[in-house]
Amino acid sequence: MIIAIDGPSGAGKSTVAKAVAKKMGFSCLDTGAMYRAVAWRGIQDGIALEDAEALGEIARTCPISFGHVEGDPVPRRVFIDGQEITEAIRTAEIDRAVSPVSAIPSVREALVDQQRRIGSEGNYVIEGRDIGTVVFPQAEVKIFLTASDEERAHRRVRQNVDRGVGHIDYDVVLEDLRQRDKRDSSRATSPLKPAEDAHHIDSTDQYIEDVIEEICSLAEAAGAVRPKAQE
Ligand code: DC
Repeated sequence: MIIAIDGPSGAGKSTVAKAVAKKMGFSCLDTGAMYRAVAWRGIQDGIALEDAEALGEIARTCPISFGHVEGDPVPRRVFIDGQEITEAIRTAEIDRAVSPVSAIPSVREALVDQQRRIGSEGNYVIEGRDIGTVVFPQAEVKIFLTASDEERAHRRVRQNVDRGVGHIDYDVVLEDLRQRDKRDSSRATSPLKPAEDAHHIDSTDQYIEDVIEEICSLAEAAGAVRPKAQE
């Protein structure tokens, strides 16, 4: 079974996807991390963000993989060409670079191929922007997760403080986030939009535990069986 979770940045997709995967005993795939990995590698190699050919080549040829921290079933570690980039892809520089990189059709084609291959291996929660519309249009459960712009910016600021990345200005975060949403929603290839049959969940005023439980219930209604130990 595939549980597709799409939505704009900061809506809570990562937290929710990882928790649903844990509760349901599914694997989980963060497709945004794959676009970030290509952007990171492009910057390392001194490639211009408009160089579609070179970035497409990276997406086709540099293997991206995920790994576990010991004792954690969720694969939080990210690698490209065997090099760990878990923290390196979460900087403001990558936040800005990843949007244009993810709009390049050859990059998307290569990564979508990999995502389909990974997802076909078993039960997966997959988070991204186009999972329910393009990557797995046949997904059994499709969620479009949103939150207000202001709430998403607040969450991003808090996340940075928690990560010890330092203080970032709320207004700058809000503006960056709106710019990125606009680019992600208006690009020609696989723009961010809800699938027609997606369940819309607005997490602005909801406890995250309730959102997680709602998605687990939808998965159960679609035939998934929750592992006994988690009930
Ligand atoms: O979820 P995230 O913020 O880590 O995603 C990083 C960027 O990648 C974001 O600007 C949109 C893009 N993305 C995409 O185009 N398609 C996906 N399936 C996932 C992410």
